[in-house]
Amino acid sequence: MSTESNYRKWWKEGVVYQIYPRSFQDSTGNGIGDLRGIINRLDYIKSLGVDIIWLNPIYESPNDDNGYDISDYRSILADFGLMKDFEELLDGLHQRGLKLVMDLVVNHCSDEHQWFKSSRSSRDSLHRDFYHWWPAEKGVPPKRWSYFDVASNAWQYDETTDAYYLHYFSVKQPDLNWENPALRKEIYDMMHFWFKKGVDGFRMDVISFLSKEKPYPQLPENYTPEQYISFYAKGPQLHNYLNEMHNEVLKHYDAMTVGEAPGVTLENALDFVDEDREELNMFFHFDLMGLDRAEGEVFKMNPNGWKLGEFKKVFSDWDAVFAKKGWGSLFLSNHDFPRTVSRWGNDTAEHWRNATTLLHTFLLTMRGTPYFYNGDEIGMTNIRFENIEEYRDINTINKYKQLQELGEDLQEFIEDQKEAGRDNARTPMQWSDDINAGFTTGTPWISVNENHRGKVSVKVQEEDQYSPLQYFRKMVSIRKEHIGLVYGQYELIDSNNEQVYAYLRSWNQDRFLVMLNFSTETLTYSLPKEINYNANKLIISNDRVRDDKTYKEFMLRPYQAVVYKLI
Ligand code: GLC
Repeated sequence: MSTESNYRKWWKEGVVYQIYPRSFQDSTGNGIGDLRGIINRLDYIKSLGVDIIWLNPIYESPNDDNGYDISDYRSILADFGLMKDFEELLDGLHQRGLKLVMDLVVNHCSDEHQWFKSSRSSRDSLHRDFYHWWPAEKGVPPKRWSYFDVASNAWQYDETTDAYYLHYFSVKQPDLNWENPALRKEIYDMMHFWFKKGVDGFRMDVISFLSKEKPYPQLPENYTPEQYISFYAKGPQLHNYLNEMHNEVLKHYDAMTVGEAPGVTLENALDFVDEDREELNMFFHFDLMGLDRAEGEVFKMNPNGWKLGEFKKVFSDWDAVFAKKGWGSLFLSNHDFPRTVSRWGNDTAEHWRNATTLLHTFLLTMRGTPYFYNGDEIGMTNIRFENIEEYRDINTINKYKQLQELGEDLQEFIEDQKEAGRDNARTPMQWSDDINAGFTTGTPWISVNENHRGKVSVKVQEEDQYSPLQYFRKMVSIRKEHIGLVYGQYELIDSNNEQVYAYLRSWNQDRFLVMLNFSTETLTYSLPKEINYNANKLIISNDRVRDDKTYKEFMLRPYQAVVYKLI
C-alpha cells in the first residue's frame, strides 16, 4: 500500500450518509418525505460532518417496492417533487461540499415502464428482448426462486403472448435482459444523463445479478434461497458487462461506484474491485447481514442470535481481502435491514446510549468507506409492529400471504418480523418530540416510533452534549483528523474474546488501539503482552476512563468504546 496520490480517493476518505427520501422529511403535509424536505434539512446533514449522500430511488415508480420498481429512469416521482427540485438539491449539496450518489436499479424495472409494456404486447415487439421470456410451448420454465413473489416463483405467466417472464423480485419488477446490447446501450445513455446533471456516482442495486445463464438451466430441486442467490451472482457475462459499463460510462467521470452484491464471496471479491480490472470501486457484501439469519434464509432470524467472534471474523476476513487491492465498504444497516442499535447493540433504556455510540466508534475506526443510514446517528430503534396491517413493505406482506396460504404459524412470523422486518428501518426520521416527530404535519405513510417523545430525536439530542448525535459528529471529525483511521493497517487482537472486540490500526508511525465492550457487563480487559507501548493518549471514549497513561489493563463499562493513540 502506498500514500501515492492515486491511492488516495475522495470516496475512500468520505463518510456516506444514506437518505431514504420517503421517510426523511415531508414538506407538503401529504405524509410522504420529499426532495424539498431534504433541501430544508441540508444544514443538518452538513453538520454531521459526512461527505457523500446516497439517495434511495427517487425516480417515477408505481411503488410496488418503494421506488425499486422504476417506470421512468429520467423523471422524478411526483410525490418527491420535480426535476427542478432535484437540481436545487444537487446544487445545495455541492455548495456545501457534499457529493451525491444516486441509486441505479437496472437488474429490473417496473412492469409499468414503457419498455415492458411494449415487450409484453407482442412477441414481435421492438422491446421484446429487453426482458427474459420463456414461451409456454416449451413447457414450464426451470424453477427460479423470487424474493418477493407470494409463491417464491420467479417466472410469471403472461397471457397476451402466452409466455413467462422472469422476475427475481416482485411480479411488478421484471428482470431486464442484459444479454441484449440495445438494452445495455439504453442504460449507459441513462447513466450519462444523470452524470451530465452533475451526480457524483451510483449505488448499484443487486448488480451481481445482471447476467443470466441462458438457456436457463435446471437447478437442483432442493436449492435454498441462499443457494439461488449465489447462483444468480455468477452469471457468465457479469464481469464483461461491468467492464463495458466502466468503459462506456464510468471512466468519463470522477465517479464513485458501490455495487450491492448479494452472493459475492471473499474468493471472488477482487474480480469486482481490483482497480486493474476497471469495474467497480466498492461493493456491499452480505456476510454480516446473514450472520443472525436462519440457515439458508435471507430474511428470517436465527433464534440463536449471533456471536461476537463471528462478527469479528466477518470484518477481519473482508479487511484482509482488500489489504492490497480494491477497497471495502462498511455498513451495519440500511433500508433493507433492522436498525443498527437494535440488531448489533442493545436498545434497552439502560444500554441504548452506549451501544449506539459504540457502534458509531466501530464503523468510524475501521478500514473501508463507512455508510450510515439516516436515523442511526441518533440511535433510532426497531419499531416492532404487532400487526400485519401496520406493515408497508412488500417483502413482509407477501411472506405473510405465503404463510397464510400454507397454513403456517402467523404469530411466529410477526414475532420474527419485529427483529427482521425491513420496515423497522423505514419509519420516519425523528426530528423532534412534536407530533409525528416533526416528520410531517399530515398522516405519515408509515407509523412513527413512539420513542421520539423520549431521547430519540434530533432536537433533544442537539441539547445534550452526551447524546449519540453529538458523539457521532465528534467521532466523524476524529476520523477526518487521523488519516490512519481511514487507511491504516488493521490488526485484530484476541480474536476469541466473546465480549470485547479490540484491534489496532497502524499508519506510518501512528498506532491506534480500539476496544469495544459488546457486553452488558463491566469488564477488566488486559491487552496481550506483545503489544508494546510507553504511554497512551485517549482519543475518545463514550464513557468514563481511568486516567493512567501507562496502563495495559483497562476497565470497560457496558458497551463502552475507547480509542487510544499508542505512544
Ligand atoms: C435491493 C434493494 C431493496 C429492493 C431490492 C429489489 O436489495 O436494496 O430495497 O427491494 O433490491 O430492487
